[in-house]
Amino acid sequence: MKALVLSGGKGTRLRPITYTSAKQLVPVANRPVLFRVLDAITEAGITDIGIVVGDTAEEVMKAVGDGSAWNAKVTYIRQEAPLGLAHAVKISQDYLGDDRFVMFLGDNVIQGGIKNLVTGFQQHNWNAQIVLKEVENPSQFGVAELKNGRVVRLVEKPKEPPSNLALVGIYMFDHHIFEAVNAIKPSWRGELEITDAIQYLIEHGYEVYPYFHKGWWIDTGKMEDLLEANRLLLDEITPCIEGEVRGNSYIAGRVVIEQGAEIVDSTIRGPVAIGRNTHIENAYVGPYTSIYHSCFIKNCEIEHCIIMEEVHIEDVPFRLEESLIGRYVEIKAASAKPKAYRMMLGDHSKVGLVSNG
Ligand code: G1P
Repeated sequence: MKALVLSGGKGTRLRPITYTSAKQLVPVANRPVLFRVLDAITEAGITDIGIVVGDTAEEVMKAVGDGSAWNAKVTYIRQEAPLGLAHAVKISQDYLGDDRFVMFLGDNVIQGGIKNLVTGFQQHNWNAQIVLKEVENPSQFGVAELKNGRVVRLVEKPKEPPSNLALVGIYMFDHHIFEAVNAIKPSWRGELEITDAIQYLIEHGYEVYPYFHKGWWIDTGKMEDLLEANRLLLDEITPCIEGEVRGNSYIAGRVVIEQGAEIVDSTIRGPVAIGRNTHIENAYVGPYTSIYHSCFIKNCEIEHCIIMEEVHIEDVPFRLEESLIGRYVEIKAASAKPKAYRMMLGDHSKVGLVSNG
């Protein structure tokens, strides 16, 4: 069995982070979403993994390498334009051959891995299996309609959803999926939709079965989703303090402090993850915060945030909350007169200032 991971796409809803970085590489609870996908796949015993890459190919390739960090063999497949999930399958036909495979969208985070799903599919001769989860807002996803335990219809982002069962971005296929992706036509949004390809399988008599995912599932398209995934994952971390805690510091709750990190005269109230070589001084780091590698945090309060690598935050008078801070960002009090905000922000940056009112 092989795996196909989709790690292309433009990530427009995550600008400005995605101008310089792949959305799949944003860390949640200090581990990039894509790494978590590869963890789940390899834990399920699959080591032959194809990764479909687009504009951010170089960055993804640099981060994942040849897959040896997972004891896996990674093959990169370049998608010239984001023409849809079924298009990604189509261009991967040479790589996949006649093997059965799991397709995993590189921006999906799920609780509990995919071992049961993969084992179940291996035990049957089904042509496809789709992962479903009950959601409150099915219109934002692909939606499935079931009858007698079989999938009878799929619709992509329907205005009037036939059920509350959303398609999680994890799919099991055999080689018949190539017949489908080669037969379907682009949708109104100009993409070859995987839902249309699966619908083709159903209509041509192939067996498509559902798999009900029990744990939580987050499709991390927006900042709010990343913060939510970060929150859920931090709730499950195993406390581990390998860095140094000095001075008048107080650590409470589930906290991970990686090697080389230093906490000086600070309060860390978990669940919190602090990456290697990060320095925190005279600060408060509150629940649901992940601070990645090599950051410098001094004289400030941070809560419910994802801070990416090499960020510098110092002397900030109000608490920083519900924020996603990209790599190498600097946030500091402006001491020079006149008293004013001084900023250099990339396109589509968002700043919420504390108002006087
Ligand atoms: C895609 C699929 C959709 C599925 C979702 C899961 O949507 O088209 O059917 O429910 O992934 O993450 P997209 O995120 O590309 O809008």
